[in-house]
Amino acid sequence: MTKTKTIFVCSSCGYESSKWLGKCPACNEWNSFYEEKEQNINARDIGKKERVKPKSLNIIESKEDVRIDTGYGELNRVLGGGLVKGSLVLVGGEPGIGKSTLILQLCNKISNKGKVLYVSGEESDKQVKLRADRLNINSENIMFLGETDIDRIDDEIMEMIPELVVIDSIQTMYSNEITSAPGTVSQVREITARIMRTCKEKGITTIIIGHVTKDGNIAGPRVLEHMVDTVLYIEGERYFSYRIVRTVKNRFGSTNEVGMFEMKNEGMCEVTNPSEMLISEGNEKYSGSAIVCTIEGTRPLLVEMQALTTMSVYGIPKRTSSGIDFNKLALIIAVLEKRASLPLGNQDVYLNVVSGMKIVEPAADLGIALVVASSFKNINIQKDIALIGEVGLTGEIRSVNLIDKRIKEIERLGLKKCIIPENNKKYLKEKHNLDIIGVKNINDALKAVGIK
Ligand code: TYD
Ligand code: MG
Repeated sequence: MTKTKTIFVCSSCGYESSKWLGKCPACNEWNSFYEEKEQNINARDIGKKERVKPKSLNIIESKEDVRIDTGYGELNRVLGGGLVKGSLVLVGGEPGIGKSTLILQLCNKISNKGKVLYVSGEESDKQVKLRADRLNINSENIMFLGETDIDRIDDEIMEMIPELVVIDSIQTMYSNEITSAPGTVSQVREITARIMRTCKEKGITTIIIGHVTKDGNIAGPRVLEHMVDTVLYIEGERYFSYRIVRTVKNRFGSTNEVGMFEMKNEGMCEVTNPSEMLISEGNEKYSGSAIVCTIEGTRPLLVEMQALTTMSVYGIPKRTSSGIDFNKLALIIAVLEKRASLPLGNQDVYLNVVSGMKIVEPAADLGIALVVASSFKNINIQKDIALIGEVGLTGEIRSVNLIDKRIKEIERLGLKKCIIPENNKKYLKEKHNLDIIGVKNINDALKAVGIK
């Protein structure tokens, strides 16, 4: 009997190795290798047709992409103006984040234009029907197929030629040509390649749903990103209702886009004016809170930042932060101690971005510094001031990008004042109708809000 050959594959990037490795040499992911049966290479060449001759780019006819309106402004935005006809879109996210819900809502909108084939390997027809009822969806054009065998799905697509195909989810589908279990790298790749072939040939728009876990252990969307045209990720915190749809890759538009949704009882609802919602609950009376202006994708967002400092009862003070990187908080506390002479060494410091948003951009630094100082000194920062600026290690306030866009948003929301880096103020391109204060260093900024 011949021995079956096995290989070890990285579930994060697809790197193959003959033995198990703790750390992937290609993508540096830890503990991502698992065993798979080696595939016969020829199996991958199935479907190859006659030889295609190269031709000059000049003689190839180009035509504008036909875009399908998704019926949701926020989705159109992340897709770069609508769903491109014939494109392959991957929608990733943690389990339970709302992928199936959002895509079913999208199916409903597209079903006005033609048949939609919704293939689910995760839920039964009754479960999907229950969700559809909940979302008030009763289109005749949405066809449900509870199938996981790619051959049969392929046949069905060929027969129906629908306007849109949805595969929910890629991890549950399998191909008989591959011996490893559903959800493994080789299965997931093979199935995506098969779907891609069929849909590109017939010009059918396709959406593939894929689960990603936080630690990226399950083989999934990461290894598919290079095969598809567009990759969207849905992000959000489990205990908050906001969901951000982010473009990770887009062959037909910018990748710097985000769409905002809110998960409600009646499904995913668009949030067209997020800033208004994010700062609406601010409490005027207490110190340690301020409005900062951050950029998500290309869109400015105003969010409330809060800090609380208390005398530490332990030898080592405690610092916690949510929504902001912990090391960033530590760095800014150090700058406040050294450059602004605030003795925070014996203080516990808690930092929070209200409403579960995560901010990674440096323009929020000034906000972090000022809310911590505000709580420590117990002096309020007025609620009609917005803060923008990166804090450097010498205490300087460094300039940030897209300043005019940010100020416009602050102005639109009716705030009266903003504190921005001096260097940004010098080079403002547009006229703004609010009080703009330029600051050079952290001490200037503390003075500007009345803390020093
Ligand atoms: P789902 O779309 O099934 O997540 P995924 O496909 O990403 O795994 O959504 C799951 C969650 O959404 C579930 O916890 C219930 C919630 N939900 C609502 O809050 N409102 C709704 O209208 C629906 C359909 C689901
Ligand atoms: Mg689902």
